[in-house]
Amino acid sequence: MATVLEVKDLCKTYVTDKRQNNVLKNVSFKVDEGEMVAIMGPSASGKSTLLYSVSGMDKATSGTVLFDGKDITAMKKNELADVRLDEMGFIFQQMYMMKNLTILDNILLPGLQSKKHKRSRKEVVQCGEDLMRKLGIIEAADNDINEVSGGQLQRACICRSLINKPRLLFADEPTGALNRANSNEVMEELTKINREGTTVMMVTHDSKVAAKCTRVLYISDGNIEGEYRSDVTKSDKERERALNNWLMDLGW
Ligand SMILES: Nc1ncnc2c1ncn2[C@@H]1O[C@H](COP(=O)(O)OP(=O)(O)OP(=O)(O)O)[C@@H](O)[C@H]1O
Ligand SMILES: [Mg+2]
Repeated sequence: MATVLEVKDLCKTYVTDKRQNNVLKNVSFKVDEGEMVAIMGPSASGKSTLLYSVSGMDKATSGTVLFDGKDITAMKKNELADVRLDEMGFIFQQMYMMKNLTILDNILLPGLQSKKHKRSRKEVVQCGEDLMRKLGIIEAADNDINEVSGGQLQRACICRSLINKPRLLFADEPTGALNRANSNEVMEELTKINREGTTVMMVTHDSKVAAKCTRVLYISDGNIEGEYRSDVTKSDKERERALNNWLMDLGW
């Protein structure tokens, strides 16, 4: 299996009021094509920081991040922006959407900016509408972002993150703001997207959500303290129970 992401000795230090906060301390791991990896760990352990550093959204203090064999920490701004736009998808903790655009136009935006696929506006619209149909929110296409529910908005974010057919999808608490029913629906969609070939790396607090992933990395105090491979032949319930036992041993 090809490696999509290889992180080596990643460190991230924040300096605030002359105080150093070493949030990531020599973190190393790999993600293979087709995996669905969950990042878990206590609050403030560095999960979001890790996701932002490996996706090039934030600059690491030291270490390397190879995406498809290329070191994104050494890339020029424009080159990194193109990789992020064309090859990566993002679902953020706060759902950043443009207030003055409709849901559909928000979804189309990265598609219209991408140079990779060279699609006409019509083709991008077709792709956006297909995604909205797939995620069951097509009726909200022309709504403003304040005219949809939290669950619908989160699904719109997923559509937007997929408009350029990314190889790797990053998600920070994609179900964090959702009730259980919406969370289950969103996870079903993400699992489907993963089975169709997109590699997924997500942060979650929810062991029910993490149990659907193929692997869980547990981060504590800026280090990966444990790694759990889920037995995909087992039922959802059994996987969840096994993961919960493993998490409990780690002091979760
Ligand atoms: N931009 C920043 N500037 C300074 N410190 C930061 C910044 N972002 C995060 N931190 C600090 O880094 C640490 C890790 O934060 P991070 O957001 O990565 O945690 P997390 O594991 O995602 O937590 P949560 O589960 O609450 O989302 C915290 O101590 C936080 O205060
Ligand atoms: Mg976080």
